Amino acid sequence: MTAIDDLTARGVISPEWVEAFRAVPRADYVPDRIWDLDNTPVDRTTDPDPWQRLVDADVPLVTHRADDGTPVSSSSMPYMVATMLRHLEPSPGDRVLEIGTGTGWNAALLSHRLGDQAVTTVDVDPGICADAEAALKAAGYRPRVVCADGADGHPDGATVQRLIATCTVQTVPYTWIRQTRGVIVTPFGNGMSAGGLLRLESDGRTASGRIVDTSAFMWLRAQQPAAWTTGSSGDDTTTGLDPRLLVADVHERFAVGLRVPNCRYSLAWGSGDEADECTLWLSDGISWASADSIPGRDRHDVTQSGPRRLWDEAEAAYRWEDHDRPEITRFGVTVDEHGQRAWLDHP
Ligand SMILES: C[S@@+](CC[C@H](N)C(=O)[O-])C[C@H]1O[C@@H](n2cnc3c(N)ncnc32)[C@H](O)[C@@H]1O
Repeated sequence: MTAIDDLTARGVISPEWVEAFRAVPRADYVPDRIWDLDNTPVDRTTDPDPWQRLVDADVPLVTHRADDGTPVSSSSMPYMVATMLRHLEPSPGDRVLEIGTGTGWNAALLSHRLGDQAVTTVDVDPGICADAEAALKAAGYRPRVVCADGADGHPDGATVQRLIATCTVQTVPYTWIRQTRGVIVTPFGNGMSAGGLLRLESDGRTASGRIVDTSAFMWLRAQQPAAWTTGSSGDDTTTGLDPRLLVADVHERFAVGLRVPNCRYSLAWGSGDEADECTLWLSDGISWASADSIPGRDRHDVTQSGPRRLWDEAEAAYRWEDHDRPEITRFGVTVDEHGQRAWLDHP
């Protein structure tokens, strides 16, 4: 059973999208050389069966890498593609803007259902645009593919009824709100978690809506979390909060990250006799903090350096969250000309 069969049987692919998923095979858009979840390269020309198994599976596939090896584009996991299109709910006659062309598969699905004329897709990378356009043409689809920064919205400044982004934002560009009279679906995250799928309803001035699922996409390039900084000396204190609790799962991390803007984390595990010990590192590119987690201890060592006290901010955010441990889908976001506000349960 392929992922598409399974997602259809489970209703993840909504009835109005089933025919498009049947008619637009993912394999037509995935390049010959891809990388699986373990970063192992698989080449269709030398390994056709493993390649086909990966393409048929419900997994994301890295399709393009920068010269230093960093993944820069991927074919999103079919579950995510189907979920996003289900939440987008376009109707015949709607114009759609996609931010993040990638392989072109999503643009082909949209073109199949709504017609080429209805779909504009932008990607920031010229090579990725060229590959996607070639795959789309070979399959008989002609949506408009434009190489541009998707943060600037539609290349012509046109109004659309649906906007779908397939890269994660921390701040929803206000241009997207101004250009959309209808629904925006976008991965939405923060430095602690790339993890929410946001569905907004926009009237062209204000947009508001909830996180409807978890997600894990690449970042919109200009909105990647800050670079790392760490050091060896800072101000030492202790805390009664076990640092590992802060990053226990996507729900904790998302909530903490909303209240500690522009802060990244990493968890460094010990080895040998200390394999169950870890250090949580936090950094905003200028300030940093480390907090040690040793099982059985009541107090944990903390070091902080720089103008922000990142551990103090993160601990305060976690203790706020401690009231009822909200799941990510209880959060929502409102965006207007004054900026972006996240909320819990109600705007
Ligand atoms: C997960 S891939 C898109 C998957 C694609 N929708 C598909 O069907 O295969 C994310 C894409 O977002 C693109 N991207 C990142 N930042 C961007 C930006 N500022 N503007 C437009 N595209 C961007 C990347 O180049 C990458 O190709």
